[in-house]
Amino acid sequence: MICLGIESTAHTFGVGIVKDKQIIANSKDMFVTETGGMKPVDAMDHHVDCCKDVIKQALEEAKITMKDVDLISFSQSPGLGHCLRVGAVVARSLSKINNIPLIGINHCIAHLEIGKLLTGAKDPVLLYASGANTQIIAYEGGKYRIFGETLDQGVGNLLDSFARYMGLGFPGGPKIYELAKKGKFVEIPYCVKGMDVSFGGILTFLKQQYDKGVSKEDLSFSLQETVFAMLIEVSERAMAHCDKKELVLGGGVACNKRLQEMADKMCEGRNAKSFVPPNDVLVDNGAMIAWLGLLEYEAGVRTKDTSIKPYERTDDIEVCWC
Ligand code: ATP
Ligand code: FE2
Repeated sequence: MICLGIESTAHTFGVGIVKDKQIIANSKDMFVTETGGMKPVDAMDHHVDCCKDVIKQALEEAKITMKDVDLISFSQSPGLGHCLRVGAVVARSLSKINNIPLIGINHCIAHLEIGKLLTGAKDPVLLYASGANTQIIAYEGGKYRIFGETLDQGVGNLLDSFARYMGLGFPGGPKIYELAKKGKFVEIPYCVKGMDVSFGGILTFLKQQYDKGVSKEDLSFSLQETVFAMLIEVSERAMAHCDKKELVLGGGVACNKRLQEMADKMCEGRNAKSFVPPNDVLVDNGAMIAWLGLLEYEAGVRTKDTSIKPYERTDDIEVCWC
């Protein structure tokens, strides 16, 4: 069975094609601003402009035509309404024109399931650390439950906002990683509240320290050491609470080698295993949407209401395919 998946929750318009358990295409186009943050309406225009080319590219990469596609899936939730709407309209149109069934997907669960597929992890805790989202998720009693999450912005937004403040441009994660290699530790706030984390105050503090003349290198190093320790602490407690022996990393921030190293070390210490899927499925991508589409469809899930759900939570979904 072949599924074409469409991702459009935020800055990336992606189209992935999965045949059985194999990714046969994963094309994307990312909206990047010259300066400042992203306006949803501009990202929407970007998606409208590039969607045709990205679909064409994916079909060429997979060496198939729309006639070979058995199922279309799309990111139905959560995300920016403007962006989600483009993916939904494209998916509905392709489905109608070609008479192919359509299924709506929760983007956060897609990150988790592609991680399981590509790493072989069976029943992991997922540390999902991306631009807009930061959640620690695990399967318990029929749902993927959120054991900890950010109380304000995602960890990636913290990295990107601070990188922009230091004049480093976007995306900030890789630049902060490079600078951190030459930095030393300075104390910054460590903000874990119960099982949740908070980054807003840390961003303000970092900006103040930068204005006072603390170096980019030292702030980058200390930022990584502190916020990644916060994420690993909560992940470890979720693993202990659920008695799980696997940790999977997901989301663009998981591309960071220092975070990967800290995850490895924590897992080693508790006789568990840490898994990291390849970078092109850590960041937003269509392949994970296609894969979850196949999983759900084969388990009998059918989407009657194809309207977008920008605020849907990971634990709103009944998981019947595990
Ligand atoms: P969401 O998944 O919540 O919709 P998003 O679309 O912003 O959010 P991703 O594409 O998964 O998220 O991740 C973007 C984040 O990952 C940014 O903060 C970026 O700086 C960071 N990032 C991307 N690549 C790397 C890398 N190679 N090393 C470190 N950080 C990275
Ligand atoms: Fe994502």
